[in-house]
Amino acid sequence: MWRPPERIRHDSGPADWPSAQTAAASRLFSPIQVGPLLLPHRTWIPAMVPWRATDDGFVTQDVLDWYERFAQGRPAVLVVEATGIRDVPSGPLLRIGDDRFIPGLRQLVEVVRRASRGETRLFIQLIDFLSIRRRPDPARYFADFLVLTDHHRRAFGTSGATDAQIRAWLAGLARSELDSVLSGRELEALEHGARERVTDMHLEHIRDLPLQLPPLFGAAARRACKSGFDGVELHYAHAYTMASFLSPLNTRADGYGGAVEGRVRLALEVYARVRADLGADFPIGCRFLADECIEGGGSVSDAEYFACEFAMAGMDFLSLSRGGKFDDAQQPKVGTAAYPYTGPSGYECMPSYYSDAKGPFGRNLHATARIRAAVRAANCSTPVITSGGIHNFAQAEAVLASGQADVVAIARQALADPDWFTKILSGRGGQVRLCIYTNYCEALDQRHRQVTCELWDREALDEPGISKSADGKRRLVAPPWAGSSGD
Ligand SMILES: Cc1cc2nc3c(=O)[nH]c(=O)nc-3n(C[C@H](O)[C@H](O)[C@H](O)COP(=O)(O)O)c2cc1C
Ligand code: SF4
Repeated sequence: MWRPPERIRHDSGPADWPSAQTAAASRLFSPIQVGPLLLPHRTWIPAMVPWRATDDGFVTQDVLDWYERFAQGRPAVLVVEATGIRDVPSGPLLRIGDDRFIPGLRQLVEVVRRASRGETRLFIQLIDFLSIRRRPDPARYFADFLVLTDHHRRAFGTSGATDAQIRAWLAGLARSELDSVLSGRELEALEHGARERVTDMHLEHIRDLPLQLPPLFGAAARRACKSGFDGVELHYAHAYTMASFLSPLNTRADGYGGAVEGRVRLALEVYARVRADLGADFPIGCRFLADECIEGGGSVSDAEYFACEFAMAGMDFLSLSRGGKFDDAQQPKVGTAAYPYTGPSGYECMPSYYSDAKGPFGRNLHATARIRAAVRAANCSTPVITSGGIHNFAQAEAVLASGQADVVAIARQALADPDWFTKILSGRGGQVRLCIYTNYCEALDQRHRQVTCELWDREALDEPGISKSADGKRRLVAPPWAGSSGD
């Protein structure tokens, strides 16, 4: 993963852990209305893909165990990982693109209800993504994948040449020569793997996205509701389809690109369809980017506009992330696909402990505060959720006290210690296992390996009945907290 060149080391710290009395009176543990739901407090675990579904997208026992472990810490909201709305092969990612996924998802809801003693509200993040190919072996690229055009034929120069001769010639060119023979997209396909964009209007399925996506999201949301989820989060963030529509890099000329009004249109139409399908009383919100953090990408001003549009349209919450784009991702190895969290924008999304002077804690706060202020100025009280490097009580309190956000989402800290919430509320913050932000978990995610935390995955491997990673070397969920029964 890319890291800021300054390489200043920042250590997470506990600051002061509150007594049970102080915690109970805190803002963090004060109630908040999220649409029709009154949450007892403002603790929230955002979506994290753990790579535990079957290859055809079904819930497994490992998926149930993963969410059960988070639910034991009883956060107010737990958001299930990005779950595909289409019924297409997408590796071990959860899917919700057909009714056959409902029984497994229903089981997941039941497990979380039981483990949290009915306290945790379970949301699910709904995602659509476009196709991305692995970086090809150059020989295969020139032999099989590259679509020969007149431009290549002209560059070759001799009329009447066979395709095989042109392909062999191209395969033999030096990198510097390829620059003038291949287009930017062809070079990208060679060096990073071909990636579809929402602006590929020559492709019918891309052109038709504004027609296809609202019903696909709507049907997926109905299945979420049928499965018993308490809410849905529309994934409008990071490197995926909906975020690409919001981006200024979306130059579509069909009314769904260009100026902010065009770029937001599909996001609003998807929301309208989901709302129409689920009714006024079902919690629906979205996650989007406070800042794309790439050259030519969406700025905080764009996000202010989108936030106001979403809030005025009636969304029940706005969850803000940042960065995480393909545009600046590192070149993948041959045979692997690009990963949107490996470049500078990926760092903004999941900052690690070697950082710049700004550090990894609360990098999204300034932008979140601006966006929340814009939403309030538009007379909307929609809760705004922030995330990024928040790991101790004092930070969370300060965010809420200063009005930067209404809810604090905690991802990696909750992975490091799923009992974080309960420990603090019961005055035992001293027992929290603090995330050290090394991004070991994120590196596993990048390789599509089962995600665990280095602070506990080698602990008590002989505990009876635990599930382990495919190589048997890591436990898949955090060990139980000895104090959990005493609260
Ligand atoms: C392993 C892993 C998987 C993630 N998967 C998702 C995801 O499915 N959807 C999403 O919106 N964000 C995802 N994220 C980003 C987190 O939700 C969160 O925004 C990010 O980690 C920053 O918050 P933190 O500093 O509290 O970890 C993932 C993060 C990690 C570490
Ligand atoms: S592996 Fe654990 S300690 Fe390291 S960043 Fe992930 S959650 Fe934090």
